[in-house]
Amino acid sequence: MCGIVGYIGSRDAFPILIKGLKRLEYRGYDSAGVALLSESNHLNVYKVKGKVSGLEESVQKEDISGTIGIAHTRWATHGEPSKINAHPHVSASGKLALIHNGIIENYNVLKERLQQKGYSFTSSTDTEVLVQLIDYMKESGKLDLLTAVRLALREVVGAYALAIIDYTNPDEVIVARKSSPLVIGIGENEFFIASDATPIVEYTDKVVYLEDEDIAILKRGEPLKVIDFSNEELNLEVQTIELNLGQLEKGGYPHFMLKEIFEQPDCLRDCMRGRLRVEENEVILSAVMDHKDKLLEAKRIIIVACGTSWHAALIGRQLIEHYCRIPVQVEYASEFRYSNPVVGGGDIVISISQSGETADTLAAVELARQRGAFIYGICNAVGSSIPRNTHTGSYIHVGPEIGVASTKAFTGQVTVLAMLALTLAKVKGTVKPEELQEILKEFETIPEKMKKALETNEQIASLSKTFTYASNFIYLGRGYNYPVALEGALKLKEISYIHAEGYPAAEMKHGPIALIDTEMPVVVIATHNSLYEKLLSNVQEIKARKGKVIALVSEGDETISKIADYCIELPKTVEALDPLITTIPLQLMAYHIAVCKGKDVDQPRNLAKSVTVE
Ligand code: AGP
Ligand code: GLU
Repeated sequence: MCGIVGYIGSRDAFPILIKGLKRLEYRGYDSAGVALLSESNHLNVYKVKGKVSGLEESVQKEDISGTIGIAHTRWATHGEPSKINAHPHVSASGKLALIHNGIIENYNVLKERLQQKGYSFTSSTDTEVLVQLIDYMKESGKLDLLTAVRLALREVVGAYALAIIDYTNPDEVIVARKSSPLVIGIGENEFFIASDATPIVEYTDKVVYLEDEDIAILKRGEPLKVIDFSNEELNLEVQTIELNLGQLEKGGYPHFMLKEIFEQPDCLRDCMRGRLRVEENEVILSAVMDHKDKLLEAKRIIIVACGTSWHAALIGRQLIEHYCRIPVQVEYASEFRYSNPVVGGGDIVISISQSGETADTLAAVELARQRGAFIYGICNAVGSSIPRNTHTGSYIHVGPEIGVASTKAFTGQVTVLAMLALTLAKVKGTVKPEELQEILKEFETIPEKMKKALETNEQIASLSKTFTYASNFIYLGRGYNYPVALEGALKLKEISYIHAEGYPAAEMKHGPIALIDTEMPVVVIATHNSLYEKLLSNVQEIKARKGKVIALVSEGDETISKIADYCIELPKTVEALDPLITTIPLQLMAYHIAVCKGKDVDQPRNLAKSVTVE
């Protein structure tokens, strides 16, 4: 994954780079480093194992001058997290420093070749091979840096977003991308480089998103130039971005995750704005309307996604099948891409991704597109790779999500999927006007009901203290709430490191029931719906084996609330929209248990927000 940042201009580069790294830390945080060309023309490289704050502290007595620099926050793929493996990596000649996001797949072959030429390696990363290869091309062929980068990249197999500087030429940064994101910010006689636009927004709103196999030359006093591998100059598409700086701060909350949980009512309002038209008895997702003929012809829909987005997809399947009567298949993007799937013309593939940069999801999209499917993206990050690589799509508009554990993006994705299903159902005539009116009226009340669900925060905070002892949890739900159980379990695993399993409640008796004893907390999503009576029996089965039941029930519940050990009351809504309410207490519970256990909620170990590697 990794976050990369760079600057060239007339300001001090270091503060810009550090601030940028902090914004990108969600992408990886096992080590960090910076390379600066100082005023006296020295290449100064500083690295630490651990977070960006550690890097900042470690350089207090160092020379951090310079108006050109590159910096990196790492999520290791090759070589353990350590100071030596941290980026930037410096070439054998001592002239070049490089940062990289991605994987050089043929690094072993290249490394052997370079070793035969006398190169030695200090780190165990694939990235160091890249900087030495460029160095070799440059020194042996007496080439300029741009040509050396261009020729070296022709030999590289894999994915990269990279930035490289050369201390013999303090007026230039070269950057390139293939399958990993890279944005260039254009200021007044200055350029900014970053993995996404968040480090750039406070300096300029003019950006260029590099495409695969683009190489860009950022030179002082000259306009931005982008070329391809055969040295052809490319046309630039300068875009204007809109990002509110306040959205990138914690706004008084102790963690981004808590802020993002509490933002959900407002986020969903933004997501529905202009789309949900209760009085006209319609929902208008413009991408659905623009392509309604294609969507109506579809014999089936395949949804591809990973992690939390995959859980949203499972809810999407139920929504689309119920309202539109179109068969839907849900696939893990990582499995789909290697399964030689039967997909082609006539299929609609919906890809769901918060970041829009998940490598597996992008590859699944690419495969489906090559085989002739029509691709519909559902994404949060504006301008990211998914929206740029799909035929059409809808943004969820929930604002930047910074906590590594996804919260508001999940409810935003479910909201868009519900709107997609209802838009299409109306066009297709598979939903009766009365039924549509009922769900639309209910949809409109969801943000208020979410606010009520958030009022359980205090209760959940104190309940969570009771469960910090647990080393296992089971989450059960049925129907629309089965994916919510999966999502609740994933949240707990991710940030508290407690093992948790989500299960369809009725499947429990086919195996997991063996795990139930007096120590086992079982979270049951038991709000009022068509399967309530069935869930009641499942709860009885757990109680008969002395499990500890934490039940999510609807306000006024009088049955399950009497037998459960702990009850969380939630506002009632229609079955199809229930996940938007039941998810909230599970997010809060994972959050509070992790806080009680003293875990790093926003940056849990081993994870990164945007998984841009396989
Ligand atoms: C969620 O909490 C995760 N950290 C993770 O599962 C995430 O949902 C997954 O990596 C997919 O990301 P995307 O939505 O950005 O594609
Ligand atoms: N492969 C590089 C490393 O391990 C970059 C990692 C990444 O981008 O995730 O250092």
